[in-house]
Amino acid sequence: MTLSKPDKNQVFLGTFIHSKSLGELEYLHNTAVCVDASGKIVAIETNCNQQKAVETLYARLGWSLDNVSVTLTRDGRQFFFPGFVDTHVHAPQYPNIGIFGKSTLLDWLNTYTFPMEASLSSIPKARRVYTQCIRQTLAHGTTTAAYYATIDVDATNLLADLCYSMGQRAFIGRVCMDHLGPDYYIDESADQALAATRATIEHIRRLDSNFELVSPILTPRFAPACSVETMRGLSELQKQTQLPMQTHISENMDEIELVKKIFPNSKSYADVYDTYGILNEKMILAHAIHLTEEEADLIAERNSKVAHCPVSNSALSSGVARVRWLLDKGIQVGLGTDMSGGYSPSILEAARHAKLVSNHLVMPGGQLDNLWQEERDKAKLSVDEVLYLATRGGAQVVGLADKIGAFEVGMQWDAQLIDLNAVPAEIAEDDFTTHGNVDIFGWEKWDERIAKWVFNGDSRNTKKVWVRGRLVHQQT
Ligand code: GUN
Ligand code: FE
Repeated sequence: MTLSKPDKNQVFLGTFIHSKSLGELEYLHNTAVCVDASGKIVAIETNCNQQKAVETLYARLGWSLDNVSVTLTRDGRQFFFPGFVDTHVHAPQYPNIGIFGKSTLLDWLNTYTFPMEASLSSIPKARRVYTQCIRQTLAHGTTTAAYYATIDVDATNLLADLCYSMGQRAFIGRVCMDHLGPDYYIDESADQALAATRATIEHIRRLDSNFELVSPILTPRFAPACSVETMRGLSELQKQTQLPMQTHISENMDEIELVKKIFPNSKSYADVYDTYGILNEKMILAHAIHLTEEEADLIAERNSKVAHCPVSNSALSSGVARVRWLLDKGIQVGLGTDMSGGYSPSILEAARHAKLVSNHLVMPGGQLDNLWQEERDKAKLSVDEVLYLATRGGAQVVGLADKIGAFEVGMQWDAQLIDLNAVPAEIAEDDFTTHGNVDIFGWEKWDERIAKWVFNGDSRNTKKVWVRGRLVHQQT
């Protein structure tokens, strides 16, 4: 299968917004970004006379004027933003979004999740579900996703094929679970789990030999569902292949108790992963809510990453991860939808929720004394910070910080075109008169427009989405 590539050089003109650092968005107006036919950003000119800049850039790049496609933002209401990175998402759970009732993690897994995942051994059903999941996440601006699939190799390989043909950058995890699962949904043995994982790696190697768009990711589901042999075997496989790895940690109190019971000699949940060789710089840990100080320090020392999934953590009443505390320890953090623990395919929703739940946090050690307010304020994440987690932070977590997450020469054109006027959707004629014919978006400063987008925006604002320069979603 060959992926259709943009056959043209492209230039994008107008307003570009991206994260310069954790706390600072950068607003680039009157800017030209040139992207070559391989999808790489090859030149950027800011604050320029666009016509003149384009001519100079074309001359510098040796581009002919007639084989270039040009995309422009509409002044003041549209901007380019880096594509979102979903660092933790379960594609087979897509049909269950919004269905969780009063359940918490362990009964939610048994009631809703395992039956749905098991049912995707039907390839026609897997095709329908995975196609819809990819279409919806692309429509919400997710250009890169770290997916958990299921234990079924054929269906997992199909998810890889679909991401490749629909053009989403993706990590595809064949889920390993050979312990404590239900009879109808469990690996027979560690050997079988490892052989199935290798089969998916080989399939993806045939699809995309250098893993440029689609890559395998080693996926032990979580400590309670994995035998020691499986974790050790995945550790070995990782040493051979250098592939990334993903799992869950410290999401729920009953889960933590279960880990203590299964591994009575381990110092902690994080220590289980460390003991069996899978806590390292390539590991993405989802949730990380109830970590002890020692566990967080160990994770920082091993340079493992964290996928923060605030929508899921609220839905399943799991708790609130202390993102500032993790960041202050030097741990890299991105955002995850965790569908269907999370009810939304949108990383914008995850960013919004990350900001809101951080407002309720007190930093560890924060007491009801005169330091309290200061501690609370410190834990709060800003709009700029959650957008960083959604893009650059996510890129670090999936090991692609030099390739995606911002607009820089040498990076890939993984981007979205946002139109602020799409939401609130329509302004009645009367509103035009009361507002003096001023658009509902338009009078604000740019940082206020971005705040409106974060708190009110949805997929209607996402007009176009590109991955590696290829247009993968658009709406009029
Ligand atoms: N822990 C183990 N499996 C899962 C899962 O599918 N979702 C979430 N949120 N936590 C898990
Ligand atoms: Fe999850």
